[in-house]
Amino acid sequence: MKLSHDVIERKPWLLIALVLLVVSVGGLVEIVPLFFQKSTTEPVAGLTHYSPLRLAGRDIYVREGCYNCHSQMIRPFRAETERYGHYSVAGEFVYDRPFQWGSKRTGPDLARVGGRYSDEWHRAHLNNPRDVVPESNMPSYPWLASTVLEPQSIVPKLKALQRLGDGYTEEEIAAAPKALEGKTEQDALIAYLQGLGIQIKARR
Ligand code: HEC
Repeated sequence: MKLSHDVIERKPWLLIALVLLVVSVGGLVEIVPLFFQKSTTEPVAGLTHYSPLRLAGRDIYVREGCYNCHSQMIRPFRAETERYGHYSVAGEFVYDRPFQWGSKRTGPDLARVGGRYSDEWHRAHLNNPRDVVPESNMPSYPWLASTVLEPQSIVPKLKALQRLGDGYTEEEIAAAPKALEGKTEQDALIAYLQGLGIQIKARR
């Protein structure tokens, strides 16, 4: 029997099986090379793994659901690059597990917000966004300023990332709790925000 279109299209299960085969091969051909390409697996120049304080801040970003209103992904379109800066590239996210690209933009994209405002601006903004942007509908996060970090809690997180190959040394992990001592959740979150996307912005 010749496997002609006529035959295939009359046999729904055969058609489904062949469609799945074609889609899988096509998908693999597109996706697998990305695991090996330098531009998608190596960090961009200047990018290092998260410092303990920034890592703690990143966890607060995730906990508070900031990604529900903010993306971290500048698309390669003029309207985006003029507003936010250089479009995002894969090498900027190699230490993000999981990445915070998102797609919902109730607020602006934050991929390159690092260095755009002072720490003091962020403090005022997080305590009550309306104090600095009167028309803002972003929620206030006043408790971040009064909640002190638990320094030891960073150790297992760093160890997990070390196991995944993020290059933390034993000394770095041993010194990490000290870097968090006396810091508030707000300090950590601001440290995280101030480091976002600065490697490529600096090159422009
Ligand atoms: C309900 C949606 C919403 C949530 C949740 C939210 N934001 Fe926003 N955010 C906004 C809006 C709208 C703006 C623009 C107005 C302003 O600057 O306040 C904004 C602005 C910002 C800006 C200034 C960006 C710029 O380029 O001007 C930063 C930084 C920011 N948000 C950080 C955060 C962080 C950190 C969190 C989580 C703790 C968060 N946002 C949660 C809506 C939100």
